[in-house]
Amino acid sequence: MTILEVKDLKVYYPVRGGIMGRVVDYVRAVDGVTFSVEAGQTIGLVGESGSGKSTIGKAVLGLVPLAGGQILFAGEDITKHIGKNRSPYRKSVQMIFQDVYSSLNAKKRVLDIIAEPLRNFEKFSKAEERKRVDELLTIVGMSPENALKYPHEFSGGQRQRIGVARAIALKPRLIVADEPVSALDLSIQAQVLNYLKDVQEELGLSYLFISHDLGVVKHMCETLAIMHNSRFVEFGSREDIYTNPVHIYTRRLIASIPDMDPQMREPNEQRRAEIAEEYTEKYSSFYNEGGKVYDLKQVGATHYVAVP
Ligand SMILES: Nc1ncnc2c1ncn2[C@@H]1O[C@H](COP(=O)(O)OP(=O)(O)OP(=O)(O)O)[C@@H](O)[C@H]1O
Ligand SMILES: [Mg+2]
Repeated sequence: MTILEVKDLKVYYPVRGGIMGRVVDYVRAVDGVTFSVEAGQTIGLVGESGSGKSTIGKAVLGLVPLAGGQILFAGEDITKHIGKNRSPYRKSVQMIFQDVYSSLNAKKRVLDIIAEPLRNFEKFSKAEERKRVDELLTIVGMSPENALKYPHEFSGGQRQRIGVARAIALKPRLIVADEPVSALDLSIQAQVLNYLKDVQEELGLSYLFISHDLGVVKHMCETLAIMHNSRFVEFGSREDIYTNPVHIYTRRLIASIPDMDPQMREPNEQRRAEIAEEYTEKYSSFYNEGGKVYDLKQVGATHYVAVP
């Protein structure tokens, strides 16, 4: 079942100038992006800083106005919910942030932090609420006694799990996870990622998983979209993207993954040099004269590439 459909999405941010603060130009942060997410699926959005990843996430959460296109959630157009806080849509789609510490209110106990969405949307008694919070803490591998503590009493990884508990409190169907582990130590990243996977299985969740870390994305996502200049340059299964990248931008990105195997370091170094050369040589055949990314064309069963 298709849970999310994004069709030809465009988000333009106004640029204001002069003493009157008039709109003098627009930043085309997302400029014609189309994809869909199935129930239980994880789609990875990868691309360099400023390519438009978070903006897609914000659009899906209904936090920014669209300059064009459409977003359907479970078949329903969400445009009318944009900017509204308590629509049913706000319950079904949740977010996990990169830096939970700044998104968790330091003065509130974990109980209040996790219960906040419940208080907005459900009419639980205090006892029911506490029971639900205890359940949520258990799901993310934390003991219910933690409910009465404050955010500063936890490690980064534990805080991230509190963020996950809050995000799943309303049993959402889709979570936008924007760099959910980038702020964590490597040793803790895997742990939080595994919790995200467990929770997904338990609740049948879909993820829109945003990251610039290709290792993390490979671990989490069976489908990937590679973004550059506000558009998708390539879209496909994990296999398509990691073993058969076609777009020059993706090829360079994949070649840049550091090697764990010391024996492979030298051959890969050589391969990187080759790809760098290929990148300079072929760049112009992968972008139009204005530097814009072409529309995606199907090149395999699940594989799409932006070529002329
Ligand atoms: N509120 C805003 N007003 C104006 N421009 C914005 C705003 N938010 C983002 N932008 C611009 O839109 C473009 C896309 O930004 P976005 O945050 O989506 O990138 P990103 O891919 O998430 O990058 P990063 O990896 O650094 O998080 C950038 O050029 C950015 O400067
Ligand atoms: Mg971002």
